[in-house]
Amino acid sequence: MRPLELSPADFHRLATRVSALATEFFKTIDQRPTFPQLDASENDALFRTPAPEIGLGEKAFDALEDVLRRSRIQNGRFFGYVLGSGEPVAALGDLIASVVNQNVTAWRSGPAAVTIEKTVIDWLTQALGCGSFRGSFTGGGSSANLMALAMAREAISPANEGGLRTAPELTLYASTEAHMSIGKAAALLGIGRENLRLIAADEEFKLNPERLEAAVVADQKAGKKPLAVIASAGTVNTGSIDPLSEIAAIARRHGMWFHIDGAYGALAAMAVPDKFRGLAEANSISLDPHKWLYQPLDCSCILYRDFRAGESPAEKAFSHTGDYARSLSQDPIESFAFFEETVELSRRFRALKLWLSLRYHGFDAFRAAIGKDLELAQVLAKRIEAEPTLELMSPVELSAVCFRHRRLPGKGLAQSELSEQVQRTSGTQAREPLNEFNSRILKRLIERGRVYLSNATLRGHFCLRACLVNHRTTEGDIAEVVSEVLAVANEIV
Ligand SMILES: Cc1ncc(COP(=O)(O)O)c(C=O)c1O
Repeated sequence: MRPLELSPADFHRLATRVSALATEFFKTIDQRPTFPQLDASENDALFRTPAPEIGLGEKAFDALEDVLRRSRIQNGRFFGYVLGSGEPVAALGDLIASVVNQNVTAWRSGPAAVTIEKTVIDWLTQALGCGSFRGSFTGGGSSANLMALAMAREAISPANEGGLRTAPELTLYASTEAHMSIGKAAALLGIGRENLRLIAADEEFKLNPERLEAAVVADQKAGKKPLAVIASAGTVNTGSIDPLSEIAAIARRHGMWFHIDGAYGALAAMAVPDKFRGLAEANSISLDPHKWLYQPLDCSCILYRDFRAGESPAEKAFSHTGDYARSLSQDPIESFAFFEETVELSRRFRALKLWLSLRYHGFDAFRAAIGKDLELAQVLAKRIEAEPTLELMSPVELSAVCFRHRRLPGKGLAQSELSEQVQRTSGTQAREPLNEFNSRILKRLIERGRVYLSNATLRGHFCLRACLVNHRTTEGDIAEVVSEVLAVANEIV
């Protein structure tokens, strides 16, 4: 037998085993701790084994149980970061994507794969009311944001050939609530983080249009070239949606590219389009189906419009084809190549899982799941407001709920009383114990493994943060967020 060869019978046996393991995982997902109770060194001892010179055969699969047992679990009580819950039909799609192993570089490398990717992009753009956009799948919102700003730079101040040496000093604009990937993109594109103007967000954590325009005008007067404004359609901390239409108008007035970072929130426009007025006015939009379409990682999209002289902004930014990859076909369908409009050459068949998942459940079911997340976030906010020892820390526009415990251990001092005292005494110092207390609550809460939250710092306040992009969450799970936080606070006290 050739090395690495697996007979169909062996494949079937192993696949049946994996299928049984996956089924058991889904059957018991609700009983599993959201974070495994483990010792980091014991975990290391288990997995940091010597490289297997001789194969273990089927015994290699024994350790998969350990992998599942030592993983963070997205059951209905997982609310950390912005992480989709991993829809099982899509997981099966991912298996087939690996089995058929298409390299989605160009039509000739995977006719079905390329056509399915284009189809799913069309479905998404139509579902969002952005029918004139095109796009592609990418690894995450961070790379989608990087691609968007690369398109912006090439459309407005081309530097692909000559570099940035002769370009004017470019500036970018976003609110202080913008995702960290925007700063990374500014750095990687040679624009520089110092040229990313982070405009102080307003009291609802949104980008303020007047402050934005003032900053743009000031830069223009100083001889700089405003390149792009990045609005958030769902900020990572609070889910706030920047005023998209007003920002679009400013971008147009000043000849800037308008990018919307919709990695967290924009897919909710399928369910609540009114909240996202102005979405279709963007030049580019980042979307993360691995967040709010519940897809297993990774599954993200960059969408764009604005075709000048028949050339897409993505082609302008990313087309740079080696001779060996050039298509021999003149046919417009057969000669299509994603590598002419993306950063990547070799690309996974990411669209398959979403295609299968959308075909299985239908858009209607996804809209309903998003609607339920939005509704449950409001339920959680109300429960927090009804609890005297808890305090809601921001409006709940989408599904991120930021709050904190406001009673200091041992002191029984509520934050409203504390704030008055702070003003009378030494300012910020007195606030720190509450930050520390809430950070201890979070650490212990995660250790207990019943509920998983993450954190956000809002105006210097450490907050507990629950983000619902989870098709498994029920009202009972929401009740547990409050009861767990209170139980942990009592335990610490
Ligand atoms: C608003 C926003 N933008 C970008 C990202 C980055 O997305 P990814 O983690 O898929 O790279 C996130 C991640 O949470 C986000 O919330």
